[in-house]
Amino acid sequence: MQSHPDFPSLHIVDHPLVQHKLTIMREKDTPTSHFRQLLREIALLMGYEITRHIPLTTKKIETPLMEMEAPTLAGRKPAIISILRAGQGMVEGLRELMPGAREGHVGLYRDPETKRPHEYYVKLPEAGGRLFILCDPMMATGHSAVHAMDVLLRHGVEEHNIRFLALVAAPEGIRVFQEHHPNVHIYTASLDEKLNEKAYIVPGLGDAGDRLFGTK
Ligand code: URA
Repeated sequence: MQSHPDFPSLHIVDHPLVQHKLTIMREKDTPTSHFRQLLREIALLMGYEITRHIPLTTKKIETPLMEMEAPTLAGRKPAIISILRAGQGMVEGLRELMPGAREGHVGLYRDPETKRPHEYYVKLPEAGGRLFILCDPMMATGHSAVHAMDVLLRHGVEEHNIRFLALVAAPEGIRVFQEHHPNVHIYTASLDEKLNEKAYIVPGLGDAGDRLFGTK
C-alpha cells in the first residue's frame, strides 16, 4: 500500500493484481460482463486491505484433536454502504469477503447543470460502533463523497468508523474530501491525473455506472 505526501489520509492499493485488473477495466473495449466481474474482484481485494486492522478477540473452540482459544472477529458486523448507482458494483466483492455484513444505500445523482449531488434515497443499517465502508468507484469532484459522508454522520455513524473505498480518484476530489473530513481514510487503486472540463476523471475509465450496467 502506498501513501501520498499531499494527501495524508489517502492509501493507494498498489497490489499487482489490483493494478492489472484496473488496466483491463480502463480499456474502452472491455465488455460490460468483464467490467462488472473485475470491479467485483478488485473490491474484494481492496476490502482485504481495508479490513487489515479490524479487531480480533478469541473464543474457545474444539478441533477434532483438542480445545483451543481461537481468533475471531470482535465487535459488530461491518456495514457496506454503496453510493448509488455505481457503488453497487463494489458491493458483491465486499459481501463475499464479509458475508455477515449489513448493507445500506445512499442514492445520489449528479445534477448535470450544477455538477452537485442530489439526494433521492437513504437506507442505512444501525450505526452504533460498527465499521462503515462507503463505496463509490469514482471519486471525481469529491462532492458526492462528502455528501454521503454527511448522510452517515447525520445517521450517527462515528467518523473514525468510516472508510471510503474508491476505485479511481482525482486529486481535485481527494482535496475536497480531505478539507471536509481530514481524518477519514480513503482507499483507492489509482490517483489519476485530473478532472476534465466535464468533471470526468482522466485518464479514468469513463462513466463507471454506464460501463457497469451497459447503459449510455
Ligand atoms: N463518474 C464516473 O463514472 N466517471 C468519472 O470519470 C467521473 C465521475
